[in-house]
This record gives sequence, structure tokens and C-alpha cells, in this order.
Amino acid sequence: MSRLTDLIAQAKAKDPQMGADLEREYKALSSRLPFGLNFERHRPEAVELPQRPIRKGDKVLVLPERGSSAKRDLRLWVVKKIVKERGKKLAELELLDAERGTTQTHKVAVDDIVVVAEFRDTIYPGLVSTGKVERGGDKPCHTVINGENYHVLKALTWTHRGKVDAIYIDPPYNTGAKDWKYNNDYVEGDDLYRHSKWLAMMERRLLIARELLNPTDSVLIVTIDEKEYLRLGLLLEQLFANARIQMISINVNPAAASRAGAFGRSDEYIFFVMQGSSPARLPLDRDWVSVKGRTHTGAPRWDLLRRSGSGASRRDSPGCFYPIYVDVITPSIMKVGEPLPDGTSVPPQVEGSIAILPIRKNGSEGRWMMTPGELRSRIPQGRVRISVSKKGKKVVLYYLADGEFKKIEEGEFPVEGSAPDGSMVFAQSDSKEMGSVLAIPSTQWRIPSHDSTQYGTRLLADFIPGRKFPYPKSLYAVEDTIRFFVKERPNAIVLDYFAGSGTTAHAVMRLNRQDSGRRQCISVTNNEVAADEQAELREKGLRPGDPDWEKWGICDFITKPRVEAAITGKTPGGEPIKGDYKFIDEFPMGKGLEENAEFFTLTYETPVAVSHHMAFARIAPMLWLRAGSKGRRIDKLPAKGWEVVDAYGLLIELDHATDFFKAVGKAKGLRIAYIVTDDERRFQALARRLPEGVEAIRLYESYLTNFSFSNGD
Ligand SMILES: C[S@@+](CC[C@H](N)C(=O)[O-])C[C@H]1O[C@@H](n2cnc3c(N)ncnc32)[C@H](O)[C@@H]1O
Repeated sequence: MSRLTDLIAQAKAKDPQMGADLEREYKALSSRLPFGLNFERHRPEAVELPQRPIRKGDKVLVLPERGSSAKRDLRLWVVKKIVKERGKKLAELELLDAERGTTQTHKVAVDDIVVVAEFRDTIYPGLVSTGKVERGGDKPCHTVINGENYHVLKALTWTHRGKVDAIYIDPPYNTGAKDWKYNNDYVEGDDLYRHSKWLAMMERRLLIARELLNPTDSVLIVTIDEKEYLRLGLLLEQLFANARIQMISINVNPAAASRAGAFGRSDEYIFFVMQGSSPARLPLDRDWVSVKGRTHTGAPRWDLLRRSGSGASRRDSPGCFYPIYVDVITPSIMKVGEPLPDGTSVPPQVEGSIAILPIRKNGSEGRWMMTPGELRSRIPQGRVRISVSKKGKKVVLYYLADGEFKKIEEGEFPVEGSAPDGSMVFAQSDSKEMGSVLAIPSTQWRIPSHDSTQYGTRLLADFIPGRKFPYPKSLYAVEDTIRFFVKERPNAIVLDYFAGSGTTAHAVMRLNRQDSGRRQCISVTNNEVAADEQAELREKGLRPGDPDWEKWGICDFITKPRVEAAITGKTPGGEPIKGDYKFIDEFPMGKGLEENAEFFTLTYETPVAVSHHMAFARIAPMLWLRAGSKGRRIDKLPAKGWEVVDAYGLLIELDHATDFFKAVGKAKGLRIAYIVTDDERRFQALARRLPEGVEAIRLYESYLTNFSFSNGD
């Protein structure tokens, strides 16, 4: 070890960057667990930012000519200078990883290069609003953010650290069929590193997501299929060592996708990573509780009192071989006898009753499930039931096991009364309606409304006709999944950072309607154009970043219009949406939802611009988000030096502090006071003047410090 450390120190002395890279690889190797998930971290991950203006010092890629389908040149360059020649902006570039001692330079039109952010680079995020829909009065606003989710998650560490109640994500499943990109290239099925690239991509984002979740009471929900569920499970266990993790199987395709020489696949999986939280008991309909079989009948399960299976003979437990005296007319248990002495098989008689012994079907001596004392204590609890055949010849005894009894105590099965034998009688639930059974379901969900073709793809087509999105989830499946964790939280913050078509936001809005909740959903997704469409656009000479390219991207073409259509009840073409919502809370989809939503695109700022107020318009949405995304926003620097809106205040000119504090004092529901000053002592003095419950935040110090740490990978 020390030899390696020495060598790294020597390398660092000669070439600091190479030394640092070597050290990082070494640390990654030495931190590998002897058991568990070992994978290449593939550092650094990089992403192209086609809409980001080029600045001196940027890392860039040189793009192939417009219209060309040539493979791209993946060498990274640094912009040394931007010059103007004959009215054209050119960038002087230097090759980033040139051999030591050599420099390679290049002069390229600014239009032909694209900024690349490596994930170890520091970023200073901002947001630009690209539209909003308001139908929800003073409810908080749902947000849809177009951006690379790694960077948006970083941005949220300043606005939502520890505040998120539930994360629901449906990441790319790594099918090998161009469903996601690593370093701007699709990861295909024959990529030897496809699993480790996927894991590296997931881990980086989960590490930040973990910072956003409420550490003591939250849930992370991840959907996945057979391609990566094993690796994902291990990754989650490693990252959330103290959480309770469960995986359920959900039938999303009742028609089953047939595979040559394999079983038809109809289900996928959902991991629930519960940090202090647990699923709520919900009123579930019959679809959730299978009527046949012993799993769940919608009523408590009575088990045979005579033991079957292993350890079921008298010899195994002589203390459980005793007579139970039954009056078959009532019927009722008159008495519970004592275990018969060894060698005795005939019980003493009790007048007016017949003695029932645990005799097995083959006539051999069996045993009851419990001792006489235990049985006696359960009879008055209504936990023992007698079934007598019509002619009174056959008597079978049943009991309610502890697990079932607990469900009754917790109200899952309402008790209606008691039978003549003293056993509990339960309300019959034949209804298909919600509310019939209060339960936490099993880990196998086979619910017709979870069909992703019917209630994902087809339902999406009702909202945004003619616009295609691959594999949206069933709206009702997402709604049901999240409901278990936010039912009791009407103000929950739900985050989906692989939002795709925006199903999660739609589901959260419907949940709000069902109980007048004020939950808010933050949806993050990039503006990726589908692989087949990309080729067509490239042929036309278009590139990412061009408005005619970007308008076909998922976020702009699918996510935002879908959320808007769900709220307004109108398609992007202005037609009322046809049809009704089904299953739970049925009403015309054309009625829309009384909710607010605002759409944003992530921007990349420089710390200098931020600290000089030059980026204020793009930082402004972050201030508003941090204060709860509701009410008015301060979009421009206030001319009077301060401003107070619904949820927060902003003080820029400290000379006007008195007026500011007067307004703060009058405001109701204020959460944050942002105070712009470089002077920590003055800031502290001002913070002390704030009313209780209003948090003071120093700008831009708090923002800049949050982001200034390098990402380390
Ligand atoms: C499987 S889809 C989610 C589908 C969604 N649950 C629905 O019902 O529509 C995953 C989405 O994540 C987006 N995505 C993948 N990688 C991303 C990244 N690094 N940043 C932002 N979005 C990303 C993809 O564009 C895709 O739309």
C-alpha cells in the first residue's frame, strides 16, 4: 500500500492531474468491498450542453459538419480565446489530453463546438421559466425541469436538501436498445461495460438523491425489470444501508411479451427503500386481494387448528394431544381438556358434548397447533371457530393466527358481531369500490389498472394525440404506488428525476384531487430526441441546441405538454380531452385538474455573474423553489432595494432594512428572508431581527458555497 502511495506522490509531483487521476482510481479500487457490488466507476461521466453559450475556459467537443452522420470526434478541447474574424465568432482551442510536452491547437467556428460538462466539474445552476399553467389558486406549484438530471439534482441540494418525502424514478432499464446514453453515446447490448456504466450512472444520481430525501421519514421508489434488478438491489443496499428495502413484482403487461424459448414476461419490479417510513394501510378493492387461494380473500384467513405438514404427529408434541369438548347443536366449545397421558387414546367423556381429538386424515394421532392453555385464552378473543357438517358427524376446528388477529386489531377487517361459537364475524366485502378492505397488499400486484399499454401508452395518446413516448407507466400504477407513502401527507414533496412523459406529476395531481391535498411534484427530464428521429434531423442539417431540434425533445414535446393537458383538460391542439379517468376517482379527463405547474430549463451560470447580480433572473426561480414554489416570485432585482412576496423576502440594499423588516413583520406565511451581503456580522445582526419561523439565508454566499465544492468524480 505505502509503495503505491509513494508512487502516486511521485506521479503527482511530476504531473498533478495524472497523479490526481491515479489516486482516484486507486481509492476506488481500495474501497471495493470484498462482498457486494464491484464495478468500474467510469470516471468522469460527461454530458453535452448544446444550449450553453461558449465561454473562455470551457471544455468543448468539435462537432461533425451539419448534415454529416460521421462518428463524432470525442477528444475534449479547452477554449483559450474567442475571436471575431470577418464577422464570424471563432474559438481558439487547445487539446485537453494532449501528450505531455505537446500542444495541439485548433481554430473552429463557435457554432461548431459544444460545451461538455464532466461530472467532476463544478456547476452553478440557474433556471429559466418556459411557461406555466395556473388553475390551483394558492396551491404550491408543480415544476417540470428540462435538464441533465445529475445537474438538476445538484441544483436541488440547495433548494430541497432533506426536504423530499418521496422519490419515484423509472430509470432507463439498460435494455441495450438505445434507451440511454453514457457520455453522449447510446449504451448498446454488446457494450462490455454496459452494466458498470449503468451502475455508475445510477450511483452518482442516487448519492445526491439521498441528500434530498428526508433522512428519517421518506421513501425512494425505483422501478426496474429483469435486466438490472439484481445489480440495482445490491446498489441500493450499499447506498441505503440503514433503510428497509422491499421489492415487489407488478404485472404491467397482462398480455405478456412472448420471448423465443423463454417465459412470457408480464411483470417488472419496484424497489421501495424506506427510511423510517412504511406503507400505509389503504382501502383496497378486490383487485388487490385474490379471492381464490389462501393468500388473501378479502376476509381474515382461518387456519386449521389441527397441525398439518411437518412436526404434526402426537409424538412431536404430546402436550398438544388433548380433547376439545364440542356441543355440536349450538355449536360451541364446552371445555378444553388436558393432554392425554402417554399410551392413552381415549379421552374422558363430558356430558352433552363430543370429544374432538386431533386425528389426521389417515387415522393416525396428530396434534393441535397450541397447548390447552393457549387455546383457552384465544376462545374468548373470538379466535376459534367450529364448523359442523350437516349431519353433525364431522367437526372441524379453525383458529386465527397471530398475524391475522393483528390485522383485525388494526382495523383491516371490520368485525360485525360474533357467531354462536363465540368466533368473530366479519363484514362481507363484495364491492369493487375502494374502501372495502383496509390493507397493505402483498408483494405481488396483479391489478388490471396497472397495464402500461392501456393506461400508459393509450392514456398518454388521449392527452397529447400523435406524440409518441416509449413505455410510459400506467398512470394508475404510479398513483397507487405513491399513495401508500403520501396518503397521510397532504403536503408531500415528490420528486421524479427520470420523469419521461410526466406520469408521476399527473399521478400526484390526481392524488391531490382525491383528498384536497397540496402535494407538489418536481419532475426532471432531459430534452433527448428519440434515436430514430435524431438521424432524420441530422440529415436535415440540424443539431442539438437548434430550436428545430429541441422542439422535438422529450421535455418540450412530451413532458410539459402532458402536464399542461392534464391540468387544462385540453390537448396541445386545444381540443377537450375525451374519455373519463377510470378505477379510482372517475371523472371526465376533459375537466382537467385544479393545480398549478411551471416549466423550467436548467442553465449554467458563472460564480462571478452570480455574485455580481448579473445572473439574478436565473437564480430567482431557485429562491422561489427553496421557499416552497408557491405564490409570487421576485423575478427582477427590486428597484427599491428589497421586496417581500408570499413565501419569502429579499433584501439587497441593507440601508432599507427597516422598511424590509416592517413588510416582513406584516407578511403571513413567510418562510425565508434572503439577505444579500458580504458581511457575515451584519448578516447575523439582521437575521436576529427576523420573526420566529423565518429562516435567514445569506446571498450569494449560501448559494456559491453550496455549489463550489468540486464533485469529486
Ligand atoms: C424510462 S423513462 C421514464 C418514463 C416515465 N416513468 C413515464 O411514465 O413516462 C426515463 C426518462 O428519463 C430520461 N433520462 C434518461 N437519462 C437522463 C438524464 N441523465 N437526465 C435527465 N433525464 C434523463 C429519458 O429521456 C426518459 O425520458
